[in-house]
Amino acid sequence: MGSLEASHDLKNGSTHMLNPLDPDEFRRQGHMIIDFLADYYKNIEKYPVRSQVEPGYLSFRLPDSAPLDPEPIETIIQDVENHIIPGITHWQSPNYFAHFPSSGSIAGFLGEMVSTGFNVVGFNWVSSPAATELESIVMDWFGKMLQLPTSFLFSGGGGGVLQGTTCEAILCTLIAARDQVLNQVGRGSIVKLVVYGSDQTHFALQKAARIAGISPKNFRAILTTKDDAFGLSPNSLESAIVLDLAVGLIPLFLCATVGTTSSTAVDPLDPLSNVAKRYGVWVHVDAAYARSACICPEFRHFIDGIEGANSFSLNAHKWFFTNLDCCCLWVKDPNALIKALSTNPECLRNKATESHQVVDYKDWQIQLSRRFRAMKLWLVLRSYGVVNLQNLIRSHVDMAKYFEGLVGMDKRFEVVVPRNFAMVCFRISPTAIGDRLKSGDEKIVNEVNRNLLASVNGSGRVYMTHDVVGGVYMIRFAVGATLTDYRHVDMAWEVVQDCAHAMLTKS
Ligand SMILES: Cc1ncc(COP(=O)(O)O)c(C=O)c1O
Repeated sequence: MGSLEASHDLKNGSTHMLNPLDPDEFRRQGHMIIDFLADYYKNIEKYPVRSQVEPGYLSFRLPDSAPLDPEPIETIIQDVENHIIPGITHWQSPNYFAHFPSSGSIAGFLGEMVSTGFNVVGFNWVSSPAATELESIVMDWFGKMLQLPTSFLFSGGGGGVLQGTTCEAILCTLIAARDQVLNQVGRGSIVKLVVYGSDQTHFALQKAARIAGISPKNFRAILTTKDDAFGLSPNSLESAIVLDLAVGLIPLFLCATVGTTSSTAVDPLDPLSNVAKRYGVWVHVDAAYARSACICPEFRHFIDGIEGANSFSLNAHKWFFTNLDCCCLWVKDPNALIKALSTNPECLRNKATESHQVVDYKDWQIQLSRRFRAMKLWLVLRSYGVVNLQNLIRSHVDMAKYFEGLVGMDKRFEVVVPRNFAMVCFRISPTAIGDRLKSGDEKIVNEVNRNLLASVNGSGRVYMTHDVVGGVYMIRFAVGATLTDYRHVDMAWEVVQDCAHAMLTKS
């Protein structure tokens, strides 16, 4: 690898001027990168799933400064292989069962390539009409696949927008709700606004509330219980709202979750929306992970009651074969977003905008510049079709069910919370720990399971993560990596059993 220390004088002709977008070079290098990635996918199982490097490893391997002279792509690819891959946690590995999946696909990848190739900055319609119009079309297509009420579709007066992440989607909708209320009650009332979620709601809500200027004192993370399968109880929500109203606060925003990050719990949308409606609270539904499953009729019931929500979002980059990033956000009232987020500088004035016949997506999001994400989603929807997408999702759910069965057959283990989608939360059961367990000492059980996970991940053969729900430490086994098959699930279970055996038989 060269670096600034190898100094050259460009004017002396020691190096030549490159055209960074030369079409022939683009073709040559592009083919090499595709070959590199195809080999990567083919050989992905040979790498430890979770990177085993220590913090700071890369600074020992790379030079202190950027190269003065150009380096050939062949050398760069070699360095990716030698220095970057060791620091990669292989989310596309079939043995990746951690967090939630980031299921890539050929169509998702190629869509990203086409989008990046055009490299347009489609902030308003005129800046690239196809980017805007394709986005509106695919969002309506996707909405129909989910059997959304037409009020969420452009064809029904609502509409969809592609954001980068759920965090952005929640922030935008919270700001829209906040401004709607502040326009009625006065800006000074911001200190009275209250935001609701459950103790299982993703921290995205807390972050959004902080950015939106909501007082941390007015953030309610309502306690969930095992009896409610860790879903938010409508009665608890109503009690919290009533208490807040009694002291002069203004209930503003509820974030309900379908498929919580910790355990894929589902908040009951219908009764929650009914409560929220009674008090004029904006309802956002965060189904970042789970909503992809709702394209299958048998899982659609998880979003029954969606008609009562104001907005909802899902991450197509989690479990919908669309490479990062691609968060789909639908709103019933686009004007609420636009009023809160639009800007009209002179330099962007144009006839199309002034005709009010077009969507300018810059007014539906935080930033100005935006990527042509619709290209990816369009390629995914077209390349696989609804039927294949449904079958892919079903196959992941079936593999999770299969894993759940394996856990159930081994008396040393237990499934901790009901499985709703393609994730199983399990642990070594207290009874298997036996003698070492003073009665009711969950801390010891948690410690044993923490050690089990460390040993499973230390093997490098699989990767799983954990969470704690209701005080119980559990290992999350999330199926959804695109390359995963039954043999990987079998192998993962074998690793868990071997590690558990070694631990439980140790004197
Ligand atoms: C339920 C839920 N909401 C929100 C998020 C955050 O998503 P993003 O990283 O797209 O902001 C996650 C991430 O796993 C999630 O599971």
